[in-house]
This record gives sequence, C-alpha cells and structure tokens, in this order.
Amino acid sequence: MGKDEVLVLGGAGYIGSHTCVELIGAEYKPVIVDNTINSSPVCVSRLQQLTGENIAFYQFDVRDQVKLREVFSQHDIKAVIHFAGLKSVPESVQFPLKYYSVNIGATITLLEVMKEFKVYNLVFSSSSTVYGKPQFLPMTEDHPTGQCTSPYGRTKYFIEEILKDLCVSDPEWNIISLRYFNPVGAHQSGIIGEVPLGIPNNLLPYIAQVCNGKREYLTIYGDDYKTPDGTGIRDYLHVVDLAVGHVLALKKMQGEHGCRAYNLGSGTGFSVKEIIQAFEKASGKKLPCKIAGRRAGDVAASYADSTIAQNELGWKATKNLKEICEDYWNFQSKNPQGYS
Ligand code: NAD
Ligand code: WQD
Repeated sequence: MGKDEVLVLGGAGYIGSHTCVELIGAEYKPVIVDNTINSSPVCVSRLQQLTGENIAFYQFDVRDQVKLREVFSQHDIKAVIHFAGLKSVPESVQFPLKYYSVNIGATITLLEVMKEFKVYNLVFSSSSTVYGKPQFLPMTEDHPTGQCTSPYGRTKYFIEEILKDLCVSDPEWNIISLRYFNPVGAHQSGIIGEVPLGIPNNLLPYIAQVCNGKREYLTIYGDDYKTPDGTGIRDYLHVVDLAVGHVLALKKMQGEHGCRAYNLGSGTGFSVKEIIQAFEKASGKKLPCKIAGRRAGDVAASYADSTIAQNELGWKATKNLKEICEDYWNFQSKNPQGYS
C-alpha cells in the first residue's frame, strides 16, 4: 500500500513547511498548493533538500476552483491541512475585504471541492485570536469566542462557524480546528524557518531582525500592563511542536466524525522582557530597545490550557524557551536574506 496523500494548502509557508517535514517523518505524502504570496518556491526546494523527498508542488491561489479540482483529480487525497490565508492583523484592519475574500473565499472553494471529491477530513489553522480579550486564564476551548479585535481574527471565527454548520449538515465531515497560540522557533537544521516579508508585526521576527542588524531597535509596546514586569505576556510554542500537533490531529481523525477545536499552546506565559533576555542569551547579542505606548488591540496576557489536546490527541509542547530562541536565531543568522 502507498503512503496516504495529504493536501497541504499554504505548505510553503512558515507553519505549513514545518508540518510537511513532520508529515513525511510520519509516512504521509504531502502535496503542496501555495500561491507564494507570503512565501517562496525556494522553501519547497529546501523541504526536498531536508527530507530527501520529491514533493508535489502546485503554485496557484486556492480560490482557483478549476486548478484545485485538477489537483484532487491527479492525487488520491485522503485529508487536507488548510494553512493558506493572510495573517497580518494591521493589514486586515486596513484591507478587510481582502482578508474576507482570501481567508473565507479560499475556505469555501476548498470545502466545495472536497465535497465534490468526497474528501471529508480537514485540519484547519485557527488561532487563539478567536477568543478575543481573555475573560479568564489559562484559556480553555470553552472560553467564549467571537469577540475578535480585528478582521483577521473574525475570518478565523467565521470559518470555525462555517465548519460547524457544515458538520451539522452532513455527518460525513470530520474537521479539527487547531487554535494556535504564538508559534515561534524554526527547524533545528536551520534549513527552513520563518521568513517575514516586509516589516515584521510579531515579536520574535522583529527581535531577530534587530539582532542581525536589519532594524535599529525593538519597540516594546507598553511596560505598564498589570503583569509582573509590566510587559505583555504570551504563550510561545515551538513551530516543530505545533507541526507535530497536525500529524496527531490527522491520526485522531481516523474513524471519527464531526467538528472539534483544540488549543495548541505551551500553557506557560512569557513577558516581552523575558523573551528579550532569552533571545540575547541565544544570539549572544545585546538588543537595543525603546519603550513606547501600548499597541492598539493588545491584551496584557494570553496563554492556553491545552489539557484537551493532551488527553485527546496525545499532544504536548516539548521544547522550552531556550530551544525556541536558539532554533529561531540559528535559522535567522544562517539566512539573513530569508530564502532569496
Ligand atoms: P504564512 O504566511 O507563512 O503561510 C501561509 C501560506 O499560505 C503562505 O505560504 C502563503 O503564500 C499561502 N497563501 C496565502 N493565501 C493563499 C491563497 N489564497 N492560495 C494559496 N496559498 C495562499 O503563515 P503561517 O504563520 O505559516 O500561518 C499559517 C496559518 O496559520 C494561517 O492560516 C494563519 O492565519 C494561521 N495562524 C498563524 C499564526 C502565527 O502566529 N504564525 C497563529 C495562529 C494562526
Ligand atoms: C507579542 C507581544 C506585543 C512586537 C499576534 C496576532 C495573533 C496571532 C499571533 C495569528 C505583545 C509585543 C510585539 C513588537 C512588542 N496570529 N511586541 N514589540 O499580539 O500575541 O498575536 O500573533 O493568528 O492573531 O494578533 O503576538 O508577536 O505580535 O506580540 O513589544 O515589535 O510582543 O505587544 O505583548 P500577539 P505578537
């Protein structure tokens, strides 16, 4: 029997590429579709270099239904992992229609094609952003959702609701939404990692660019939160742990039906200042910082309760902050120009 083919939409991206490595390690055969709007075909070559596998790669927009149908016709797809979408919070505030069109449009096109080809197994990249401002910590899956603070967040929330409606309409569907907290780190090899295009919005990519001289200093958004050192606290998890979560989700799906959501986070919160310290240690560089006001929409603290993922998927974050920063820096220092 051949290996099961898994369609990975957005597989040339940050989390998608790391997931492809884990899929191959678990004897699945990834098939990538990515229009490379926020990535590069070089990432796919790097994946082949890293895994020694020849990976099928199609470069087009998931909203292109004709091309998507061709891929389903050419491969015996058993399940889909859907990473493809836009993820910048500030950009989504500026261009909400673009975000609704890409994130929701691509998902609907995908679901229609999956139904046509009777492929009912889907793992969807959701986010802790569906919870909005935390009402309690750590956040469990039954924390209320929908009070999102950006159009980006709402696309994730709306998609989760669409997926629930679909599962009610037809019990054949088997869908897992994984609500990621703050994915960081890179593959230990330094061959694949995060390659932000333009000015990074998120903390770790910004820090790395300060360390490799691309940016002058890090702006700390607020040191007057009600946290022990006054800076914002988040739940950072290593991207390889996150990638493993997708493989476990696929395994969990066998023989099951319906719609479920799992938090994937480490359960531990670190402040901006703690991250800076850990990164300085990992990189051996001093990080120039300036304190500024709070960033609009930010919360003081956010971290996960991932007990359900542990009990039902057998998943747990295994890598600590030191490994996260070392691996992140290893990739960034080896690839200061990203994949170009
Ligand atoms: P990424 O931008 O690196 O990866 C997304 C990939 O999808 C990119 O390679 C991009 O080129 C591709 N893509 C975008 N729109 C497409 C389209 N219409 N058709 C085909 N390809 C398309 O982002 P990532 O960090 O790897 O995130 C993956 C998913 O996880 C996203 O859906 C994101 O919203 C979600 N997520 C990310 C984070 C995070 O902090 N990185 C946190 C929670 C959830
Ligand atoms: C972390 C902390 C900032 C940059 C975002 C999205 C969320 C999710 C993950 C996808 C905060 C502080 C940051 C900087 C700083 N993505 N910071 N200076 O805000 O938790 O979440 O990414 O779903 O939807 O909103 O992550 O990395 O942007 O910020 O001081 O230059 O670092 O204020 O406390 P966040 P982040």
